Amino acid sequence: MSAENDRTGHQTTGALLAGGAVVVTGAGSGIGRACALACAAEGASVVVGDIDEALALATSESIAQSGGQARHYTGDVAEASTHEALAQVCVRDFGKVTGWINNAAFSGGALLGETTDEDWQRIQAVTLGGVFQGCRSAITRMIESGGGAIVNISSSAGLAAEPGLGAYGAAKAGVFSLTRNAAVEYAEHGIRVNAISPGPIDTPALGAWLEAFPGGRSAFEAQIPQGRLGRPEEIAQSAVFLLSDRASFINGAALVADGGVHARLASPRSLPS
Ligand SMILES: NC(=O)c1ccc[n+]([C@@H]2O[C@H](COP(=O)([O-])OP(=O)(O)OC[C@H]3O[C@@H](n4cnc5c(N)ncnc54)[C@H](O)[C@@H]3O)[C@@H](O)[C@H]2O)c1
Repeated sequence: MSAENDRTGHQTTGALLAGGAVVVTGAGSGIGRACALACAAEGASVVVGDIDEALALATSESIAQSGGQARHYTGDVAEASTHEALAQVCVRDFGKVTGWINNAAFSGGALLGETTDEDWQRIQAVTLGGVFQGCRSAITRMIESGGGAIVNISSSAGLAAEPGLGAYGAAKAGVFSLTRNAAVEYAEHGIRVNAISPGPIDTPALGAWLEAFPGGRSAFEAQIPQGRLGRPEEIAQSAVFLLSDRASFINGAALVADGGVHARLASPRSLPS
């Protein structure tokens, strides 16, 4: 695909991630799968990471069937060795690491007084520790190859309280903090680090919440200013943008993609008549 340059020298036509090599964690389902497919559609080679072998393979095969380049690796993001393996596969097969999306997470779902030590530790190890480990492996490889961009998937639960998501929300708030620090510490190496804060997105992970919500999905959606759940592909497009040169001066940011949820006061909803 041909490319033209604008006055800043950035590509204005053509695939946004052409020639790139991107690692995506939790890429077997939902937002991570959509991110992997979107990165491949924009010209990047993709390493698909997931704890579930069959799901990782399915995403990798979907990319290959669309004419893209993909590899998959099965591992737990709570383990540093998983990230090192993802980075090694990316460098071995695609020559470099230019992008990394830290997406995998574990939410649990208990009030704080009922959260076990085991759940607390697992949530922190996966949801915050996994992002730390991913950033560290990505940064090391990106310094070697002259720069890159990282996107960390956080959550609206990291911005405001949601009953039952205290441990997860604390981890997701930590993701925003890690993102800012990594952005500041590695800007001089040409590495940009940003976060996305999705609101409610229509993925398997949200299914149980919708079932438990009084009135079900339609009542839940009525509370979202845009009147619907987000689609995984909408978060993926935000991630592609942040990885791409279109976002060349965006660093340390948290992009809220939630249909207006965070912008609206929960109560009172309207003025008295
Ligand atoms: N769906 C939402 O409404 C929503 C809202 C805000 C934030 N998020 C965030 O978006 C991200 C993706 O969520 P989703 O809704 O697409 O979930 P999902 O359950 O559809 O997909 C998550 C994927 O991650 C994999 N995974 C889980 N634990 C893992 C681990 N320890 N190591 C490696 N892979 C693991 C799963 O196998 C699965 O393929 C998460 O960070 C989540 O916190 C989701």
